[in-house]
Amino acid sequence: MRILAIETSCDETAVAVVSSGPVVEISLISSQIDLHRPFGGVVPEVASRAHQEWLPKLVGQALDETGHTRDSIDAVVATRGPGLIGALLVGVSFAKSLALAWGKPWLGVNHLEGHLASLDLCEPPFEPPFTALLVSGGHTEYVDVNENWEVSFLGGTLDDAAGEAFDKVAAILDLGYPGGPVIEKSAALWTGDLHRFSEPMRGRPGCDVSFSGLKTAVALAVEQAQNGDREASRFAASFQKAAVDTLVRKLEVAAGLSGRNRIALCGGVAANQALRDAAAKLALKRDWQLGVCPKKYCGDNAAMIGAAAFRALRRDGWSSSQVDADPRLSLVGDQN
Ligand code: KG4
Ligand code: ZN
Repeated sequence: MRILAIETSCDETAVAVVSSGPVVEISLISSQIDLHRPFGGVVPEVASRAHQEWLPKLVGQALDETGHTRDSIDAVVATRGPGLIGALLVGVSFAKSLALAWGKPWLGVNHLEGHLASLDLCEPPFEPPFTALLVSGGHTEYVDVNENWEVSFLGGTLDDAAGEAFDKVAAILDLGYPGGPVIEKSAALWTGDLHRFSEPMRGRPGCDVSFSGLKTAVALAVEQAQNGDREASRFAASFQKAAVDTLVRKLEVAAGLSGRNRIALCGGVAANQALRDAAAKLALKRDWQLGVCPKKYCGDNAAMIGAAAFRALRRDGWSSSQVDADPRLSLVGDQN
C-alpha cells in the first residue's frame, strides 16, 4: 500500500509519500518560519493562508518527483489534530477532497501519534513497547506505548511545553525565533561555568514537569546580571542544562512507573543534541534500549503522519467523510 500524507497542523506545510514498511519515498517540508519571525511566534491566520498556497504545490511536486499518479496512490491521509484549527482545516479539507476525487479512502491522523510513529522511521524501526518522551512546541508528555500501540499517559507538563520554554527563553535572550535551534547554537559557544538554575520538579514524585518557573528564573537572572556577566550563551547553556536534566530525570521515573526497559525520544525538541546525549547516557547507565527519532523527522513532517496512518489503519480502519479536524485531539488515555 502507498499513502499520500499531509501535515498542516502548525507552521510547516508538509507532504510525503510513504509505502508499507514504512518506507518514505519522498518527504517535502515548506517551513513558514520566515513568515512568522517578524511576529516572534506563529500567527494562525498567516499559517492557514500559507498552507493554502503551498499544499497544492507540494502535492504536485511529490507526485512529479516520485512519478506517481492517482493510480499508484492507494489512500490520502492528513493530520486532523491537535493543532491550529484553521491550519488543520486546510489539510483535512484538501485530503478529503482529493480522496473523493481520486476514489480513494482517507484517514485522519493524530499529530501526536505521528510523533510517536516517527520512531518507525529509525533504522531499524524502534518498535513498541516503550516509554516515550514526546517533546515539542505544544506538548511535553511521558507516555507508555504497548505492543498494540495502545498509549497511556504517565505525566507531562503542568504549564509550558519544553519547546515553548526554549522559544520564550530565546526571546528573553534576544536570540531570535524559533528558540530551540538558536538556544542550542548559542549554548554550544559557552565553555565557562554555568549559572545554577534549580531543576524544576526535582524530588517530586511522578513524572510531571514544569517550565514556567525556570523561564522566570532565567528572566530574573538576566535582569540582575552585571554588564560583564550578561553573555547570552552562558544563560542559554545554563537553561538548556536545567531543561535537559529535568526532561531526562523524569524519563527515568516514567520508565520506572511503566516497568519498561525501552525508552524513546520524539518531537521537535528531540532534535536537541544535549537531550539526545543525556538520554543515551541514561540508557547506558540503566542498560536500557533507546530509540531516538532521526533528526530530520523530529520537527513536524508528513512522513511521520504516513507512518502513523499505517498503525492507525490497522487499529481503527479508514475514516468516514464525517471525521473532521479537531484542534484539541489528545492521545488515547491522555489527561493533559
Ligand atoms: O514538533 P515540532 O516541530 O512542532 C510541534 O508539534 O510543536 O516542535 C517545535 C518545537 C519548537 O518549540 C522548537 O523551538 C523546538 O521544537 N525545537 C528545539 C530544537 N529544534 C526545534 N528545541 C530544542 N533544541 C532544538 N535543537
Ligand atoms: Zn509536532
